[in-house]
Amino acid sequence: MIPIETLSPAEAEAALPDLAALLHACVLDGASIGFVLPFALPEAEAFWRDGLPALRSGARRLLVARQDGRILGSAQVGLAGPPNGRHRAEITKVLVHPAARRRGLGRALMLDAERVAAAEGRTLLILDTRADDAGEALYRSLGYAVTGVVPDYACSPAGVPEPCTFMHKRL
Ligand SMILES: CC(C)(COP(=O)(O)OP(=O)(O)OC[C@H]1O[C@@H](n2cnc3c(N)ncnc32)[C@H](O)[C@@H]1OP(=O)(O)O)[C@@H](O)C(=O)NCCC(=O)NCCS
Repeated sequence: MIPIETLSPAEAEAALPDLAALLHACVLDGASIGFVLPFALPEAEAFWRDGLPALRSGARRLLVARQDGRILGSAQVGLAGPPNGRHRAEITKVLVHPAARRRGLGRALMLDAERVAAAEGRTLLILDTRADDAGEALYRSLGYAVTGVVPDYACSPAGVPEPCTFMHKRL
């Protein structure tokens, strides 16, 4: 199994082109993860670059699965929150390259994200995903409960509004 690494802000900055390639490949493959087509590599790199301040402040952790120097998957743990929400964390951008799916990388990234959140004293995890997508199946398999489904929440890469499933899990 490919080990999961938590990247330092400097490591993340050095890996921007690789991270951009991962995000770009996922969106072009149809993943509904915040972007619509056309979606170019510079836009993908800008997403990760814009996230560097949160890594530097400690508000977010970035986990990656890397094999032979190539990033095949990622997940983020959001640790920010208001004073009354410091017991929860949000898991976002769980991505596995289309060519590396169904080999357990998504599950490994999620388990490590849970480990990171627990180490920070977080006892409640929240996340969301396009309804009935592979992400929902992955999260259900890990014990996440459906909080609710919001219709027409986000547009697919093709620009069509689709429902989104919000989920949670107590650690
Ligand atoms: C969701 C995603 C991260 C799963 O990654 P993965 O590495 O293929 O997942 P795993 O191999 O670890 O799968 C673990 C379990 O999740 C479930 N699962 C994953 N993909 C599935 C799919 N396409 N259909 C049904 N179940 C699926 C299965 O229960 C699977 O266990 P199994 O293979 O023993 O049956 C990947 O499909 C992806 O990157 N999708 C695009 C981005 C995205 O939508 N992310 C989620 C929202 S941010």
